[in-house]
Amino acid sequence: MCEKPNNTGGDYIVVKALDNGVTIIGLTRGKDTKFHHSEKLDKGEIMVAQFTEHTSAIKIRGKVEVLTKNGKMRTDE
Ligand code: TRP
Repeated sequence: MCEKPNNTGGDYIVVKALDNGVTIIGLTRGKDTKFHHSEKLDKGEIMVAQFTEHTSAIKIRGKVEVLTKNGKMRTDE
């Protein structure tokens, strides 16, 4: 990861919704873990997102395909 002045040089991931009503929730970085943002996707919609100084983890509800530098995965049917 290359260090940028605003620390937004984190990895990108791609999430593709395979159903309507998929939810992606951003979890805060640091000692406390809180939901700070949620995003709804419908079938076929794609979100490209980056881990930043504010977000260290995400939680995904629903049927998706996820692409990261670690590989491609799908939620179980
Ligand atoms: N606030 C936590 C942190 O920055 C968020 C987090 C990252 C987390 N990975 C996790 C919470 C795994 C539970 C499980 O580390």
